[in-house]
Amino acid sequence: MLVEIEGFLQQAQLNKIDEVLSQANFVDGKLTAGKAAQRVKNNQELNGEPKQMELLIRILTSAMAHNATFRSAVLPYRMADPIFARYQPGMTYGKHVDDPLMGLSGQRFRSDVSMTIFLRDPDTYEGGELVVRTTFGEKRVKLKAGSAVIYPSSSLHQVAEVSGGERLVALAWIQSYVRDPAQRELLYELDLAREHLLATAADDETTGLVDKSYANLLRMWADV
Ligand code: NI
Repeated sequence: MLVEIEGFLQQAQLNKIDEVLSQANFVDGKLTAGKAAQRVKNNQELNGEPKQMELLIRILTSAMAHNATFRSAVLPYRMADPIFARYQPGMTYGKHVDDPLMGLSGQRFRSDVSMTIFLRDPDTYEGGELVVRTTFGEKRVKLKAGSAVIYPSSSLHQVAEVSGGERLVALAWIQSYVRDPAQRELLYELDLAREHLLATAADDETTGLVDKSYANLLRMWADV
């Protein structure tokens, strides 16, 4: 399941991120890539001061905490520190899967869900689409500044070459309470139905049954 979240970041948050990034240092992205990914990775990543990183992480985690779609679709348990990546003309990230285990030693966690948050409007750069291979074919994603997309970390994906302008994104990897992407998709759709019923027919017996089923499926499938 690939879910687009429009307006994940507010304009004020985008401005703050821009302000921090404009004073920060970017380094070769190969430094954080695993062996296989190193061969196809050609971008730059933020190497921020601890204070800058702390502020950026606070903005992103607060956006995640306040976004109902994110919470419902991801069921977030733990996450690594996000990365900020920059692509200038000629830069690209070839086909790869994201590392299965992330985090510093001792705080390792599994990456279940990958998230790309777009920080530049699509008409300010050429190319740079996120291309995700799904069971229904290739999806090309290039969203407005502040919008985000989530997809299973297990899916093969790439970033098309940027041919003009600058692509700037934030990336996050999250371990979900529910490991299996098919189970997460089912819970997400059931939660949408449940929210609708709670808003329109809160007192119906059916609403209670759907609510109970959602809660008990989540209990059945969640690991902590
Ligand atoms: Ni990736």
